[in-house]
Amino acid sequence: MGRTHSNGYKRVPNFFPDLEYTPVLKAVCSRSEEKVKAFAEQWGYESYETDWKALIARDDIDAVDICTPNNMHKEIAIAAAAAGKMVLCEKPLSRTLEEGEEMVKAIEEYGVKNTVWYNYRRLPAVTLAKQIVDSGKLGKIFHYRSNFLQDWTINENLPQGGRAFWRMDAEAAGSGVTGDLLAHCIDLAMWLNGGIKDVSSVTETFVKERVHEETGKLQEVKIDDACIFHCHFGNGSLGLFESTRYARGHKALFTFEINGEKGSLKWDLHDLNRLDFFNNADESTVRGWKSIHVTDGDQPYMDKWWVPGLTIGYEHSFVHQVADFLKSVEAGEDCHPTFRDAYETQKVCEAVLLSAKNRTWEETQVDWKNK
Ligand SMILES: NC(=O)c1ccc[n+]([C@@H]2O[C@H](COP(=O)([O-])OP(=O)(O)OC[C@H]3O[C@@H](n4cnc5c(N)ncnc54)[C@H](O)[C@@H]3O)[C@@H](O)[C@H]2O)c1
Repeated sequence: MGRTHSNGYKRVPNFFPDLEYTPVLKAVCSRSEEKVKAFAEQWGYESYETDWKALIARDDIDAVDICTPNNMHKEIAIAAAAAGKMVLCEKPLSRTLEEGEEMVKAIEEYGVKNTVWYNYRRLPAVTLAKQIVDSGKLGKIFHYRSNFLQDWTINENLPQGGRAFWRMDAEAAGSGVTGDLLAHCIDLAMWLNGGIKDVSSVTETFVKERVHEETGKLQEVKIDDACIFHCHFGNGSLGLFESTRYARGHKALFTFEINGEKGSLKWDLHDLNRLDFFNNADESTVRGWKSIHVTDGDQPYMDKWWVPGLTIGYEHSFVHQVADFLKSVEAGEDCHPTFRDAYETQKVCEAVLLSAKNRTWEETQVDWKNK
């Protein structure tokens, strides 16, 4: 993520020249001096640090962007907020709900500007989906379904923990696919369709033991390799979600589909510039799914890029989030999703994991403004 964010900061002044503020890449921080020095040179940072506390102590740093594994989010975010810095934090906000609560409390107490990188909201086709839903064109919503499928952990010889495989270690990641992948699905779902009220889920850990990179010992795997849940939204619709890292052939198949009384929408990360729309109001002889190529100047964000018909990619969602963050600083407004918004997503993740453990329906207690 260090690269996607750095690219975002660098591109914004070129493509959003009207913004009042310009990001300055003052310093990048990571543990290995050799690697962080090379990164700083490659990406044009003015300096580097190997201790995040030294970075936060600097007077010339206004904003701290957290791209570390999940177990470091809380400590860095709270220290940065206490030092009066703006905080941009990668998702999931935290490993647990308790950690998330402490983070929200601190960020709000210190009153610093904040955002969490649920970046998919800012892909033009996804933002257009939000505009269509909000316009009422789908009418009453009945169904929301979403998947995030990968296949990179099928090999039972992969280790857990350490620098490369922290996602497989519950201590570093908090959870498996629920926090890593479903959190994205949940953020988008609640942004598009309002709060999730209650959930019922199953999780599975297909490979029960893996060697831990740090101890060298065969240890129990405590993350969820796969998770399926269904739910009720506050608006009365039903939700169905699935995520796994064991779907052979799928690398990052993130999809959502919404079915309403008057129309439906579907989107797929592998074809991210397209939004499929079925409008029941169309004349019956030509009624059908249409595939909207979201590349025209009057579609979200696209006036900043190329001529109509030319596409943009995954990395642009980060450019857009940086631009929106700077705009929110200018306007003195919140940049959603804030820590508090991301905390609501944590509530759903927590309820999903609890439901799987206890084989029960769980209330999420989500307080979502859109609900
Ligand atoms: N928004 C998205 O689509 C998206 C995609 C991938 C990852 N993420 C999130 O981004 C975060 C990082 O994921 P990643 O895939 O980039 O991980 P990564 O392992 O590739 O990078 C993590 C970086 O953090 C550094 N780091 C670890 N501990 C540190 C410490 N104590 N002090 C300073 N630096 C430290 C590591 O050296 C490494 O450079 C995670 O929270 C992850 O969930 C978000």
